[in-house]
Amino acid sequence: MRLSKKVVAMAMASMMVFSMTACGNTADSTPANSEPETEAPATEETDTAEAETETTDAATEEAATDAAEDAADAAAATTGEGGNIGVCIYKFDDAFMTTYRNALQEILEGKGYTVTFMDGKNDQAEQNNQINNFIAQGVDALIINPVMTSAADQIIATVKDAGVPTVLINREPTAEQMAAYDKLVYVGCDARQSGTMQGELILDTPNKGDINGDGKVSYIMIQGDPENIDAQYRTEFSVKALTDAGMEVEELDLQRGDWDRNKGQEIAQNDLAKFGEDIEVIFCNNDDMAIGALQAIQAAGRTVNEDIYLVGVDALDAALNEVASGNMTGTVLNDAQGQAEGAVAAMEELLGGKTYAEGEQSIYVDYVKVTPDNVADFQ
Ligand code: GAL
Repeated sequence: MRLSKKVVAMAMASMMVFSMTACGNTADSTPANSEPETEAPATEETDTAEAETETTDAATEEAATDAAEDAADAAAATTGEGGNIGVCIYKFDDAFMTTYRNALQEILEGKGYTVTFMDGKNDQAEQNNQINNFIAQGVDALIINPVMTSAADQIIATVKDAGVPTVLINREPTAEQMAAYDKLVYVGCDARQSGTMQGELILDTPNKGDINGDGKVSYIMIQGDPENIDAQYRTEFSVKALTDAGMEVEELDLQRGDWDRNKGQEIAQNDLAKFGEDIEVIFCNNDDMAIGALQAIQAAGRTVNEDIYLVGVDALDAALNEVASGNMTGTVLNDAQGQAEGAVAAMEELLGGKTYAEGEQSIYVDYVKVTPDNVADFQ
């Protein structure tokens, strides 16, 4: 489907309204562990986009302003007037990536693209096939959330061979790896920042995490997938924030919870049985595991913010509710909406012919600390 200049103008106008709305609502709006959506067939996406643009066009044909026409010119230059976009997600059954996927879908469809999402099912071989299929189908651009960071070289070589402009999201390769292909860009967050903010949330408590006053902060760390750079940096920098502030720390346990709520619950339950009152802080690399840990904390008769602290990352709706009611010490907004907007903007620049120099291929969206004081801004 090729959009006429005027239709693009209308789409631009409605996008402006959309982005203004979106800016005021950066918080996650998908329930954790929600059922993954089934993949929408490409034809349905196209029909919807056509129906929407036709209606808009008919209703407002005479009202198209010069400004909108100018905007359409600019859009046509950078977007290629729509196109087929393939999106690979590492797995659909991930609370945060579900929010992110929904945001991408809304933005891309709102701009008139035909978009197909594939579920990598946490299997890199499966995702490699999906990438190859997209290339064989002749997609105009790819947005890829790699299953394994270690597969970055192979993914980059594949998309480079095919000459397909590609935006990597959520799992950041190294600058050297990305330098292999100048039509490739990473949009995401610097996970060191989220780890540091988790540490600061603990430092901001009245006793800086040392609830029992023995001179050290005793914690357990519930990690995501340890292969993932987000998990590595959050684990390292949350504790580093404490030691940088002069606190002594004691790691009672560190276990992988693979970003999963049930695993978070199991690990916290076992550790609470084993270490009891000695645990002063539970660091979770994400909110879904923190919600699981909270279930274990409550079952063990402990009270967050009184005899134990609990922090996560993502700002899922469920976590925001727990922060508001005092059952989580805090969380860190992982801005799915902002990252999705950034990914689509970068993709459109690539489609417009932009190339990226080495060292300039990472575009970051800031994390934001969420505490009881500001949680209402995110709900
Ligand atoms: C992180 C997020 C986790 C999980 C992970 C997947 O950024 O905090 O909840 O979605 O990405 O790679």
